[in-house]
Amino acid sequence: MHKVSGAVRTKYIGWLFLISISASACCHAESNSSSALLTPPGGGVYVGVDYYPEQWPEERWETDLKLMHDAGFNVVRLAEFSWVLYEPTDGQIDFGWLDRWLELAKKYDIRAILGTPTAIMPAWMAKKYPEALAMKLDGTRIVWGGRRDNCFSDPDYHRLSDRIVRAMGEHFANNSQVVGWQIDNELGGTDCRCDKCKTNFQKWLEKKYGTLAELNRAWGTRFWAQTYDSWDEIPMPADRVGDWAISNPSASLDWQRFTSDLNIDFLDNQASILRQTCPGSQFITHNFMGLHRGINYYRLAKQLDFVAWDDYPKLSPGEHFDSALGADLMRGLKKQNFLIMEQTAGPLGWSVFSRNPQPGELRKICYQHLAHGADGELWFRWRSCTVGREEYWHGLLGHDGIAGRRYHEAAKFAQEFQRLAPALRGTSIQSKVAILYDYDSLWALEIQNGYPGASYQDAIRRYYNALNRAGVNVDIVKPGDDLTGYKLVLAPHLHVLADDVAQALVDYVRAGGVLLADCRTGVKDETDLAYARTLPGLLSPALGIEIDEYESLRLGISDSEEVKYSIQANGRIDGSFPAIHYADWITPKGAEIVARYGQPHFKQYAAVTRNQLGKGIGWYVGTIVDESDFYDKLVAQLLKDASIRAIVSPPRGVEVSTRQDSDVGLLFVINHTDQAVTVNVPSGKPELLTSTTTGETLELDGFGVAVIKLSAAELNANQQ
Ligand code: GLA
Ligand code: ZN
Repeated sequence: MHKVSGAVRTKYIGWLFLISISASACCHAESNSSSALLTPPGGGVYVGVDYYPEQWPEERWETDLKLMHDAGFNVVRLAEFSWVLYEPTDGQIDFGWLDRWLELAKKYDIRAILGTPTAIMPAWMAKKYPEALAMKLDGTRIVWGGRRDNCFSDPDYHRLSDRIVRAMGEHFANNSQVVGWQIDNELGGTDCRCDKCKTNFQKWLEKKYGTLAELNRAWGTRFWAQTYDSWDEIPMPADRVGDWAISNPSASLDWQRFTSDLNIDFLDNQASILRQTCPGSQFITHNFMGLHRGINYYRLAKQLDFVAWDDYPKLSPGEHFDSALGADLMRGLKKQNFLIMEQTAGPLGWSVFSRNPQPGELRKICYQHLAHGADGELWFRWRSCTVGREEYWHGLLGHDGIAGRRYHEAAKFAQEFQRLAPALRGTSIQSKVAILYDYDSLWALEIQNGYPGASYQDAIRRYYNALNRAGVNVDIVKPGDDLTGYKLVLAPHLHVLADDVAQALVDYVRAGGVLLADCRTGVKDETDLAYARTLPGLLSPALGIEIDEYESLRLGISDSEEVKYSIQANGRIDGSFPAIHYADWITPKGAEIVARYGQPHFKQYAAVTRNQLGKGIGWYVGTIVDESDFYDKLVAQLLKDASIRAIVSPPRGVEVSTRQDSDVGLLFVINHTDQAVTVNVPSGKPELLTSTTTGETLELDGFGVAVIKLSAAELNANQQ
């Protein structure tokens, strides 16, 4: 046991001053290189489980390690909730049990990713420093006993977090079993309403706006006479979402950005402690939650070596789109491959549990991850626990600890994955299609929906899912990223649109790109003020339209009833489709009308348009169409305009995706349904899982997968 020294304590920097508008630069900055740190010391790929040795008798440890080794696992993520087990009382720190486990793990060649344990503060800490617990909107403090219950502005929480992280870093820096670190666990944008958070919010605003005059302008405080004369007058917005939220939307958007920054600064601070204490080859990552909406993930990823992701897909045959989208977003955060840190291992739930993955389903989930850029895979969790809130979040092993069907399926995948490793090494997803994904637009649309049920992520899904069904790779990028190299860019519901981003999109079209925009795009500026412009604002030249008027289809201000419209498309897209929720009344200014509304009073307006500007084309969709067939037909046109052809056109429920390096192309074919399917594929090519050669068609069982080897040139030829 060693007592933490005073010197360590004085190294603590008042966290308050670390809050910054943008993440600070660091030697481990973002890079486009592939993730060398994701390769195990002995080669191959990381495959393993999340494991909690502290929840089991020590006599069981060796049995577990042996079973893991027999399955072909080589890594375990552990210790991310164990703070009190190292520091049972304030300042008395002892890593004895973890040292013993790591020593035993060495015998079975199992490496460790250590979690820093700050997601659950010890009970003694909550008692001694009650202000470390977050305050709810109603002014009461969270009752300790769950997890992630801290205030991110509390100096004691920071001081003690820094101390345990530093102690862990110093203790394990030279332990060769430890290959990397996971900072905290699933940071999620805690919304603490205490006075310290309020003061930090005011300081954050002062740093951002400089003067009160600028803040008053940026928030439009002349409305309802909200003008501020002193920084300490500014309240925390009392509400954030919903129809009858009364707070100023600009204030609410900044509050959301501020709480996101609290999390980012917390992670960055831990990353810098680990960089100092562990300057060797141990990597630093964090387990992200895919489509989670609370934090600007692009910025959270910045100081990490690579992104790790926790994915618990819906166990519904054929509904695979969110895992694909989540994976593409995870890859897009740093434009590099990622690690699966947690994924479904069995029936899951905290109270009610879900379906059990059917035979083959766990394996095909893994292949979907590989197909979208995963370079390593861990299952959550090893064994179903017999104690605590997660007793029903089942592991590969059941409560009985017996290696059964799920264990054997994971072992089968682990062995296949190691065999595929040489072919996968150095490959990444190349795409000619990008979707802009923007946290400001997501948040602004939550703060003010505009039309009933407006959801930024649903807007993305409408197009993403259709692109996925068409069989093309998609990159997720952020507004402002370089778009050269993309032939097709989709910017659905880009609600908050900075002038320079709009201008870049116009230039992109003029230079030959194909752009798709849709309703509610460009409505707001960066501080969430409505632009004093005719929509679609600066995008007008690229889209060749003006939107004179618009409406939601709701009947009254508090009515849930909506009128339904239809659109009629002739020519490029054929058919009549139901239109719901929202309608732009579009006047073409040079654009061709692709679809009109079916309603008589709409005769002169367009619903869907296509415009030529310079060498490129700008599409606009002014409503929400309630039929996926429309989006499939639309995407077919977009791909045609961009001269992109999918290498395989998959049948429904089957997904294709490719990875490549400069020589080799790998085509993943994944049957997400529980029925056998036949897929047309390039013939005469090696199929790597069965070591056979493809014919013109490929038969896949329910949840079956294939990995077909092509040359990179063959893949590229299809995307020209
Ligand atoms: C998350 C967490 C895990 C565990 C699982 C299951 O992904 O990171 O610690 O709680 O959910 O609930
Ligand atoms: Zn707080």
